[in-house]
Amino acid sequence: MSQTFTLDGKTIAFEPGQTILQAADAAGVFIPHLCYHPEFKPHGSCKLCTVKVNGRQTASCTMRAMPGMAVESDTEEINAERRALTQMLFVEGNHYCPSCEKSGNCQLQATAYHLGMMSTHYDHFFPNRAVDASHPEVLLDFNRCILCSLCVRASRDVDGKNVFALSGRGIDTHLIVNASSGRLGDTDFTLADKAAEVCPVGVILKKRQGFAVPIGERTYDKAPIGATTAGEAC
Ligand code: SF4
Ligand code: FES
Repeated sequence: MSQTFTLDGKTIAFEPGQTILQAADAAGVFIPHLCYHPEFKPHGSCKLCTVKVNGRQTASCTMRAMPGMAVESDTEEINAERRALTQMLFVEGNHYCPSCEKSGNCQLQATAYHLGMMSTHYDHFFPNRAVDASHPEVLLDFNRCILCSLCVRASRDVDGKNVFALSGRGIDTHLIVNASSGRLGDTDFTLADKAAEVCPVGVILKKRQGFAVPIGERTYDKAPIGATTAGEAC
């Protein structure tokens, strides 16, 4: 028999070993998240999934559910912090959604809408990282990377290729391509790779396929993030 905890007062059943985020997702309750993907081990970097457990903050993607926990998620205080984190991600990169091919299909943008983010609030960093167009099928715009490491995990754990890695420390951390030239075109990356489909933002883009879906029919036009059904946490 499954055990239970409460999430914003609602009883949530879980199986031993499940995290708070997994149990909430299975119950159809949305907790904002960016670096969590149900097919990969949690990474715990974006902190969007932060909740309060018995009054203390923790990442719900890494925190195991325990019987009797009292978890708070959808509160004004926690959502204000999530909005601030989202604003930080926006100013750290160049997220010019009006000209981004991922607009409407982007998890960062959809999360900002979900949280009611109206502006970026902080000073912009305006990174100036070179675009990598060396691959015949794929373009990389590193200026939109939120360092979620999903492509790193997908390439390493599913594709067995290690095409991507995070390099540097602190604010200098950035995504790199594991080739002596640093160029995607000099790796064995293909469009069939899992890593080609996991980026939640507009870094890894298919060439010659931009703006194919009319506005109004893009993923988050049809169903805003958080309107997902149980078991579809990304
Ligand atoms: S390229 Fe995309 S998937 Fe990879 S770390 Fe950056 S945001 Fe995440
Ligand atoms: S989803 Fe939990 S820290 Fe990113």
